[in-house]
Amino acid sequence: MNSHPLILIVGGGGREHALAWKLAQDSAQPRLVCAPGNAGTAEIATNLDLAATDCEGLVAWAIEHRPHLVVIGPEAPLCAGLTDRLQAEGLRVFGPNKAAAQIEGSKVFSKDVMLKAGVPTAKSASFTEVGEALIYARGAQLPLVVKADGLAAGKGVVICETLTAAESAIEEMMVRGAFGSSGAQVVIEEFLEGEEASILALTDGEHLVMLASAQDHKRVFDGDQGPNTGGMGAYSPAPVVSDELWPVVRKTVFEPTLRELRNRGIIYRGVLYAGLMLTARGMRVLEFNCRFGDPEIQAILPRWDGDLLPALDACADGELRDELVRWKDEACACVVMVAGGYPGSYACGDTISGLSAAAQQQSAVVFHAGTLLKDREVVTNGGRVLGVTAMGASLRDAVSRAYGAAEKISFANAHYRKDIAWRALLL
Ligand code: AMP
Ligand code: GLY
Repeated sequence: MNSHPLILIVGGGGREHALAWKLAQDSAQPRLVCAPGNAGTAEIATNLDLAATDCEGLVAWAIEHRPHLVVIGPEAPLCAGLTDRLQAEGLRVFGPNKAAAQIEGSKVFSKDVMLKAGVPTAKSASFTEVGEALIYARGAQLPLVVKADGLAAGKGVVICETLTAAESAIEEMMVRGAFGSSGAQVVIEEFLEGEEASILALTDGEHLVMLASAQDHKRVFDGDQGPNTGGMGAYSPAPVVSDELWPVVRKTVFEPTLRELRNRGIIYRGVLYAGLMLTARGMRVLEFNCRFGDPEIQAILPRWDGDLLPALDACADGELRDELVRWKDEACACVVMVAGGYPGSYACGDTISGLSAAAQQQSAVVFHAGTLLKDREVVTNGGRVLGVTAMGASLRDAVSRAYGAAEKISFANAHYRKDIAWRALLL
């Protein structure tokens, strides 16, 4: 019997490379397998040729190999019930079951939980009938936000400045089925203004430990211009999250949400991500996610002090304790390099050079996202290609090191924002 625990990480983005990178340094020296992984995980783990959404294939692999723990990265397999399937086979999983993952998988569900739990959030209404949604929008104040109920790969939220825009967003979703069944129901909510921050908490359903704060940059261009993306960079800590805000988020967001879920018979185990808007009238929850944020986790994990696996294990087993989570005092910044054109259409298969020069920069680590090993070369294989990350004594140091590393890397039509952490650096 091999004493090094076997861990299956489901997913193949920057988040999963960061998780694998961190777990690879654990004292238990786990054997890591990623499905499907990327060119970065290939250096520290065995990549399986199984998509993160291939529940049948993943369950079959896990039954055969009986991993110590399965860590599920992305929302799609969580919302599809991969956790339930694995647990039914007696396997241990980090990541919520299908009922709990609805907190991200259904905005109608999530809003209902927030309302019942008294969590501060944007005023909203949910609709299954297009006619009623249109009537509501016509009577609502502009701008307003139209959200598809289900998963929509980050594209299901439309901020509407005009009634015409709102009407067409509602019709796109509910009549023309732009997001398939995800848009059969919509949530229409008030537009909130402020600065966004992400706070994530590990939880075993009962006990919770909040992780270091982080902020990401959603817009594709400098100065927060251009379309929304999955995230163009992140940094931790996020100074906008003040010392006073922590207990407020714990008491008014995480604790009541977990309690409301328990009241519904749902035990949430894994990581719960609260996307917050800090408005002039106080903090509001914009959304919950049922997984680690990407790229937020790329800026959070390098700051994690000590082993990661015991904390993930404890979530899975219902034994989470505060002592399992400690932080380094340094700051961390992650600059996401994307393929030109993203979040619209972009090319794949371009050769990436300079990766080892970048990794040699002080305190730098390059997390791979959309990359692939092809004939021993690393090539682009997605919109978000790399998360170039660095630690520093101050956020300013971390940012400048991350950019120093990013400058060493090149591929055709590479693009990255030059102003990651600008708000924090102004403070
Ligand atoms: P969500 O998936 O609900 O977080 O929405 C994605 C992004 O849309 C958020 O990170 C915000 O930037 C923006 N957003 C969502 N809801 C609102 C809102 N009520 N007011 C303003 N912006 C919003
Ligand atoms: N970076 C935003 C997210 O992971 O949802």
